[in-house]
Amino acid sequence: MATVGVDHFEALYRQHPDPWRIASAWYERRKRALLLASLAREEYAHAFEPGCGNGDLTLPLAARCRHVCAVDFAGTAIDRCRARLHEQGMAHVEALALELPREWPPVPDGGFDLIIVSELGYYLDDTALTAFLQGIDGCLAAGGELVACHLRPDFDDRQQATDALHDALGSLPGMTLLFEYREDVFLLNGWQRQRKDDA
Ligand SMILES: C[S@@+](CC[C@H](N)C(=O)[O-])C[C@H]1O[C@@H](n2cnc3c(N)ncnc32)[C@H](O)[C@@H]1O
Repeated sequence: MATVGVDHFEALYRQHPDPWRIASAWYERRKRALLLASLAREEYAHAFEPGCGNGDLTLPLAARCRHVCAVDFAGTAIDRCRARLHEQGMAHVEALALELPREWPPVPDGGFDLIIVSELGYYLDDTALTAFLQGIDGCLAAGGELVACHLRPDFDDRQQATDALHDALGSLPGMTLLFEYREDVFLLNGWQRQRKDDA
């Protein structure tokens, strides 16, 4: 078992500008709408979106956040994401080319109050997932929300089962389940980290 590496994703993006038809497929558009509707707050201060790809979620997310940090290790995808953000004049979003969890973005004071892990976690092998979970644990603000959304059926590149992955995210310290939306095809969860004054 090995983490699916950057070369694999870079090759996919070079073969096709939208390898999973994230912008156009009904499954993706519907799932994105459900995810965005599941976010309880009208506005977040600092969102972190690991594995942002071309930015299809980043753009609508940016409309709800004062600052967004979007990260992907595929340079082709990050270039597209940056170009789209630039076109929309979204200067409050930074799109960074980083390989998670080996590299990690700067964390705002107090942490991110929203982290969205969408169609990313199942590409990480056990070692990388452990480090990724530690990274998430270390940068989610007290009272912050963690939202995860992953396809459930099996596929070639899968390193983690979706249900177990979400169990691991929800088992991070101080997490309370906010919601769960489960279909045969995907699982969407939100958790909130304990606030400091609840501790
Ligand atoms: C299936 S796409 C999902 C895009 C977007 N999150 C969504 O849900 O529409 C997975 C993305 O994660 C990125 N990715 C996978 N493993 C990564 C890692 N270890 N570090 C950074 N990005 C990664 C890939 O390059 C790809 O753009």
